[in-house]
Amino acid sequence: MANVILVANWKEYGTLEETKMWAKAISHEKQALEERTIIVCPPFTALSTMNALKREYELPISVGAQDVSRYEEGKHTGEISAKMLAELTSYVIIGHSETRRNCKLTDEDVAKKVQAASSANITPIVCVEEISQAHALKKMLPEFTGIIAYEPPTAIGTGNPASPNQANTVAKQIKEIFPTVSVLYGGSVDGNNASGFLQEEIVTGFLIGNRSLDPNFFLEIVKNAHKDEA
Ligand code: PGA
Repeated sequence: MANVILVANWKEYGTLEETKMWAKAISHEKQALEERTIIVCPPFTALSTMNALKREYELPISVGAQDVSRYEEGKHTGEISAKMLAELTSYVIIGHSETRRNCKLTDEDVAKKVQAASSANITPIVCVEEISQAHALKKMLPEFTGIIAYEPPTAIGTGNPASPNQANTVAKQIKEIFPTVSVLYGGSVDGNNASGFLQEEIVTGFLIGNRSLDPNFFLEIVKNAHKDEA
């Protein structure tokens, strides 16, 4: 079965109590989880707890963060460095459109965060809203390796996803720039529309916001996100 990557992006949701309930709920469906590559990205505050729950229930998941400092260390109040994250996570989301907007990130800032993550051996999951942001990354980091998620802002949290054709067209352009990366699609993915995106070869998984918070909705995507074998 083709490897499908599912990234749960919890955003600014998830108390420790909610994290515990979520992990317990998904622990009943380990076999389904095993058939995908699952990367769960709770807020920083829940990373340790998620790691402990992963061990307790032997969950076949990886844990990721939602952002990383561009600096190695220093007097940067509120920042969390890649070295600190490396003790807790193996993936990090970088340059989500909400973060780009809220933190006024430039493409250069995004590239610096990618560099910081990569040098701490954390796999970056870089979000791009449009192809120009992938070109900018290539210009600054020609050897980029990792995951790229195409997330058109009109589709994020709106219930109005891009069409599978549009997502795969942009994903193909990303593959032309970075032939070895995995390309994900994000924006209003749910259990009903997920498999449609996977039929056209290029999109190999999803970045999931809203529907990753409720374990039942998330498991619905886990079970339905498959490529029909030819
Ligand atoms: P959504 O969010 O699934 O709620 O649309 C996706 C994202 O922002 O990563």
